[in-house]
Amino acid sequence: MSITIIDKDADTAVLPERIRRFPFPFSADSYRYSANVEPATKTVTTEAGEWGARLLDIDEHYLQELAERDGVLTRDPSRMQVLPHMRPAVWDTISTLLSAMAEEYPDTMSFHREGNACRWRNALQNLDVEFTIGDDSSLPMGPLRFLGSQIQDDIILLDVREDTMWLDAGLVTFAADWSFGFDVGMNFLEIHGPVPRLKEEQIITRAHQFLLRLQPGEQYRRTNWTMTIDRRLDTSTETYPEWGPDRGTIAADPALPDRLHLRVEVQHLIRLPHSGAMLFLVRTHLLPLSDIARVPAWREKFGRVLAELPEDMADYKGISRFRKAASDWLLAG
Ligand code: HEM
Repeated sequence: MSITIIDKDADTAVLPERIRRFPFPFSADSYRYSANVEPATKTVTTEAGEWGARLLDIDEHYLQELAERDGVLTRDPSRMQVLPHMRPAVWDTISTLLSAMAEEYPDTMSFHREGNACRWRNALQNLDVEFTIGDDSSLPMGPLRFLGSQIQDDIILLDVREDTMWLDAGLVTFAADWSFGFDVGMNFLEIHGPVPRLKEEQIITRAHQFLLRLQPGEQYRRTNWTMTIDRRLDTSTETYPEWGPDRGTIAADPALPDRLHLRVEVQHLIRLPHSGAMLFLVRTHLLPLSDIARVPAWREKFGRVLAELPEDMADYKGISRFRKAASDWLLAG
């Protein structure tokens, strides 16, 4: 028995960090939608390592992903929108997240606030800025775009009113097959309208009640997953012509194990302390099948999940045309 444990440790110790800290989302051989929420910042142990101790996850792709975000926003400014009544929520988000990040990464970041005067230092970007909470002109690029240049997460803000939540602000450059611009102004139930099964299984109504009951300052999280061809973060509806056609050809591509990625979103749900708005953060992680296969338990579980997934869910996720090829490759070992 002790030999098995030593062997397991030896195996996972040699895995690269991108695998050891990947938020592998499956605990069984099948997957169904659920309201899977749990408290934030709880460490989760996986067969390869662990993830989840921090609210804001900075990894080896930090600078490259932020540069990619900047490019998307320059090409398509509609990926960031703030309805006027959401300005206080944006500032609430900035003070909440920058102070959290400074606490989580004290070696490289610091945040000091006196009244509304703030100073933010981020050594990863050689950055030292001063700004004033509530004064949009104190950050040259504007407050939301500034925040989007500091964290890898997409940022969505929902206004809580009329007993529901309205998507009234956000900065979303890495959407998994949906359009932020199209959804701005919709409420929580309308946004989830296209997702199969949610109504019948009452998942979204339960999640809705849960979210409305969150108290200011409370932080929860959940994961969601899909698959993406190549390390492409921007799979928004707007750029579909660039990435959609690959879905029809990948199954026959010998490079499938390196090109096809499991895409996992770690989503945080935070009721902001001052504005009372709901903050929804989406942090996207991508890992190719060739890396998944280096962890035998992941290879087998993901292979079985893909084989078993009902067709309506596979269709909605956009993976119907290649999930069998992926599953066959994984299960062939
Ligand atoms: C506990 C809370 C939540 C639950 C249980 C939930 C559940 C789901 C599920 C199951 C899907 C389908 C995913 C897939 O098949 O890949 C989905 C999609 C989506 N969710 Fe949520 N969600 C939650 C919170 C939120 C929040 C706060 C937002 C903020 C706007 C949001 C926005 C979306 C969007 C935009 C989609 C894609 C819809 C489309 O294809 O147009 N979700 N959600």
